[in-house]
Parts: sequence; C-alpha cells; structure tokens
Amino acid sequence: MSDVTTADRPAILGGRKAVIMNAARVAEANRWPIITDEEVGAVAEILRSGELSINPIAQELENDYRQFLGVKHALACCNGTSGIFAALHAFNLQPGDEVIVPSATYWASVMPVLWCGAVPIFCETESEQLGLDPDDVEKNITPRTKAIVIVHLWGIPSRMDRLLNIAKRHNLKVFEDASHAHGAKWQGRYCGTLGDAAVFSLQTNKLAPAGEGGILVTNDDSIYEHAQCLGHFERILPMKTPARRFAGTGFGMKYRISPMSAAIARIQLKHFPERNARRTENLEYLSRQIKPLGLNTFLAPNGIDRVYFLYLVQNIESKTGLTTVQLVKALQAEGCEVVGPRYPLLHQQPVFTEDKFIEIARLQHLPRESLPTYDPNTLPKTVAANEEILQLPSFPSADRELLDQYASAFRKVIGAANEIASMGD
Ligand SMILES: Cc1ncc(COP(=O)(O)O)c(C=O)c1O
Repeated sequence: MSDVTTADRPAILGGRKAVIMNAARVAEANRWPIITDEEVGAVAEILRSGELSINPIAQELENDYRQFLGVKHALACCNGTSGIFAALHAFNLQPGDEVIVPSATYWASVMPVLWCGAVPIFCETESEQLGLDPDDVEKNITPRTKAIVIVHLWGIPSRMDRLLNIAKRHNLKVFEDASHAHGAKWQGRYCGTLGDAAVFSLQTNKLAPAGEGGILVTNDDSIYEHAQCLGHFERILPMKTPARRFAGTGFGMKYRISPMSAAIARIQLKHFPERNARRTENLEYLSRQIKPLGLNTFLAPNGIDRVYFLYLVQNIESKTGLTTVQLVKALQAEGCEVVGPRYPLLHQQPVFTEDKFIEIARLQHLPRESLPTYDPNTLPKTVAANEEILQLPSFPSADRELLDQYASAFRKVIGAANEIASMGD
C-alpha cells in the first residue's frame, strides 16, 4: 500500500494515525489552567502578608466580578457548591417544596436542594442547547414548585426566553448555575445575571479558575444578605441592617474563599477575555470542519454567545453512519483524545432511586406519597442525548496544525463509516 493510501485509510482499519503531533506539543496545546509567574507572584504576596484567612483580596475579586457582569452583588465563596447552597438557602424553601432541575448536570447543581429541605424534580434536557426543556418544565410544575435551577451546560446558554417566562407566570425563583458559562451571553446579557441569583465555579478546569472557589452573584439585597449571614459571619457586624444582630453566630456555615485562591482568580479573570477568545476561535474553526460530516457541534444560535467550558459534539448516527461507540473507538485509534458522556445522569443515582434523599433532606416526617419517586427509566430524551455526546479537548492553546489533524481524523473515519460499522461495536 502506498503512503498516500495508508494516510487516507482510518487507523482502525490499518492506516496511519491522523494525529501525529508529538505528545509534548499536544499537552501544551491542551494545558489548562494556564499558570504563569503572575499567579505565583500574587500568591507569594498573600503568603508574605500573613493575612491568610481574612484578606481584602476577596472583596477585590468580588468587585472584579461585579464590574465584569454588571451586577449589584458578588460574594466569593470557598467553592461553587457552597455558593449554590447559599443562594438556594436564601430562596427560603420549605420542607417538601419542589425545585425543577436538569438530570444531565454535575451533582452540585442539584444536591444542595436537598440540604434546603426541598426535593428536586428532574426534567428533560432539550437537544439543541442542552438546557432544561421548557415544555417538560411546564408539564412538571405543581402548586409545590418554588424554583428552577437552570444550568448553562458546557457554556451553552439555556432557552432563557421561555424558561424566564414560565418562571414569571408561576412565580418561581430562578437560580442559574453558571459554573460552565463565564462570559456567555443571552440576547446581549451575561448568563448569571438573568435570574434571581447565580454561581460561577472557579474550580481548576473552569474557564476562569482559582483552584477552588465560587462566585455567587445577585441583584437582590435580601439574597446577598442571607448568603453572607449563612457563610461569612465576619461580614455581619459591619452590616447596617437588622441582620447585624446575627453577628455572634451567623447562620452556621463558613464559606469564605481562601485569599490564595482569590489572588489566582483575579489574574485568571483579567486574562479571561483573550484566553476565552482563543479557545472559542479554535473550537469554531474545528466545528466548521466537522459539522458537515454529520456532527452537531452546538454552534450558538442567533442572539446567543456561547463559551466552551468543554467541547462536546453530538454524533447523529443517521448522518455519520456510526454508533457513538464505533466513532469514539475509531477516533481514539487516530490518536484523538475523545471520550463518551461525562456526567452520570442524576435521576438514575441511588441517592434518588433508593430514597436516600428523604434522609438527606430530613423529610421523614412527611407522608411518603407526598414526595417524588425517582424512576431511572424516565427522561428518555435526556438519556438518548447523553449517549450521543462525545467530549473532545477544549484546545485552549492549540494551533491550526493540531486542529486540522483532528478534522482529518473525523473525515477519514466518517468517510469509511460503512467499513467501520461492519466491524460492530
Ligand atoms: C455544573 C456545575 N455546577 C457546580 C459545580 C460545583 O462547583 P465547585 O466544584 O466549585 O464546587 C460544578 C463543578 O465543579 C459544575 O460543573
């Protein structure tokens, strides 16, 4: 066989790999987070200051986020999960209240609902923007529904027009989990500023990371005050409102960010625009090449600016001619870093299917029939969509050469779909 033929033939069928860039260059192209001497210096400065616990850098970070998003309040927390709990706790949910949530998300979008004594009601994910399906949300609203958790999954803004409209009509609080969505916009407005409160996780692989950290944002004074009382007792005494009387105890949690993390977060946010633009440019470039092959690359519809926390593509089997398992295997043989679905669907987890949630939410006193039952065989659309998703690297610093090699891997594999499919899964 000539060189040309082996290069064109999929590696899984004996041809040469498409991704031939050396491992060190690939690692550099995908390195995240990008940490330079700037962060090292900023952390060293904090260490030398000796103020390792309460340090004004936390408020400086909050100011940065307030300015970035144009919101009234930002509260830096020790991680996104604690910020989510603080925001939901401020919604004043009552035992057995229902909160609409997606199943296809990280557990921290949902589990804090239980610690508020409320129960999650899982709704379908729609397949275009991967957010809550407004039709299914509408169907699941009952007199007990008090709030909706909207997750802008992978950096794609959810269908906010319909979801906000539903929330308004039913008088529901809206929480946005914007952990994946730094900088994403819906109709020119930043995700995280569209509901009653939102949280951005600053965990290491997020778009503006701090190692560990979370930013709760809200325009609502009472949510902000409650969240401070819950997890930031040192901020209560300086308050000028009656909540000041809680300064001796707070509401029982301690959620402030480490000053070292805050220092890293400030620098990462400063570099966010240029780094995010590069990641977006890379992924839009690759998307334009692989979309015509039958992949849904979740390019943002009109009026929406998505970001790419992770790069997910959907295999449309009727177009590519390959099952997701076959496609993943063949791409891996080409040297591509590609994996199947990432989050286990939450409505299928034992915490729900085995009724453990009742203990966690301390709802044993309520009649069993007044609480939801969770069936792993529900949400067929969410289950199907989850199985079609592949995760590729986010290529934060890749150059065109590597992206072209990935595109060529897709072209080779899908070009020989019949032969590969005949090998089975
Ligand atoms: C969608 C989502 N929500 C919440 C979180 C929780 O954030 P943290 O890890 O900062 O607690 C994460 C990630 O870690 C996440 O991916």
